[in-house]
Amino acid sequence: MNKMHLGEISIKEASSIVEARNKVRMLAEDVGFDTIGATKLATATSELSRQMYSNGNAASVAVGFDEREKGFGLDILFKGRTEDPDIKWTEAFFDDIFISSTNGNMLNVNAFKYPPVKFIPTEEFISLERERLIRLSRAEMVSELKRKNDELLALFDDLKNEKAKIDIMLEELKSVDKIKSDLVSTVSHELRTPLTSIKGYIDIILDEDTGEINDIQRDFLGIVKRNTDRLASLINEFLDVQKMESKRLTMNLTHISLSEIVEATAKGTELLIKKKGLAFHKNIKPDILAWVDGDRISQVLWNLFTNSIKYTESGSIYLILDTEGDNAIISLEDTGVGMSESDQKKLFSKFFRADNKVVRDAGGTGLGLAIVKEIVAAHNGTIDVSSEFEKGSKFTIRLPLGRPNMKNE
Ligand SMILES: Nc1ncnc2c1ncn2[C@@H]1O[C@H](COP(=O)(O)OP(=O)(O)O)[C@@H](O)[C@H]1O
Ligand SMILES: [Mg+2]
Repeated sequence: MNKMHLGEISIKEASSIVEARNKVRMLAEDVGFDTIGATKLATATSELSRQMYSNGNAASVAVGFDEREKGFGLDILFKGRTEDPDIKWTEAFFDDIFISSTNGNMLNVNAFKYPPVKFIPTEEFISLERERLIRLSRAEMVSELKRKNDELLALFDDLKNEKAKIDIMLEELKSVDKIKSDLVSTVSHELRTPLTSIKGYIDIILDEDTGEINDIQRDFLGIVKRNTDRLASLINEFLDVQKMESKRLTMNLTHISLSEIVEATAKGTELLIKKKGLAFHKNIKPDILAWVDGDRISQVLWNLFTNSIKYTESGSIYLILDTEGDNAIISLEDTGVGMSESDQKKLFSKFFRADNKVVRDAGGTGLGLAIVKEIVAAHNGTIDVSSEFEKGSKFTIRLPLGRPNMKNE
């Protein structure tokens, strides 16, 4: 056997099968096959390549000449990992074909075909063929690149169209969002006025300014009052979120005693804590002065307190106010239901509420902590949480004592 290698095509994607086909056709024509004969060989080549490549396993096709008993002929070697290629039908196309397997479970299919007239490949012929095969590969590569480039350009056009569509959608969403915000804001404002008047009249009746009331009436009015208070705080939450979103949540900073604010808010929650049967411990450092919006800071504390009370079924609540360098540190700790680590990450986003029984039963909007975070940030402060599910939670606020550079003032 006297084998001469001319070139090899590795088949890593379906398009290389076409390359193998074209190379064999060219070679076949060069050694004297007519168009039909060359087409037959090319077709058999692409079919065998396809089989060797099946399942997407990389394959290769090597072309060359081999000298056998009747002279030189076309020698094509297919390599691949296909288990059981169907070569029976190819016998009509070739003069000899056999399968062998090599180690690494590669399969070889060797196909041989004598040309119609005897031919002897001269060295010159062989180097010419090698060059032609390489040129063909380049041409294939260039056209492949061009095809890919066209595909990319088309994809780019698609993307441009998609982006235009998304831009339009975004505009629509923005305007819907604005309508929604305006609606929430208008409705909340409109609700606030009648609610104030309801609360006022309830207080007048409860104070017996309009005559004596009996115990049942007092009880019932008490329920009405609590519910109107709840409604009022809900409406205020909505309005605050509205303000946050339109960057209208402004802080009215004054130099006041943070200690007194914290003390007063704690006092205001003591009854609630007692009612829930929880113990309350506090350690408030006196006379801490800070530049803060007093109402907003007590709103923050009130929110944290009501959370701790709502989400703690037994145990205690600890409040600490202290200073650390130029900062005031307020921390509120409870022995409540706590929360998972993943919930801690979402805690400060709007409408987030953890999914557990204690939280579900307590009710709420999930807006409180989002507002808290915004207010603290508007003071150039930070708020952090550390918590463990079913063990308890600790919220820590750090507020600068000095007059901050306010953008929101
Ligand atoms: N002290 C706490 N203990 C356990 N979970 C808490 C505590 N504070 C907040 N959470 C969790 O964070 C969620 C968001 O709180 P918040 O924004 O105040 O909304 P809301 O109280 O209306 O549900 C709560 O629903 C609850 O799951
Ligand atoms: Mg809350």
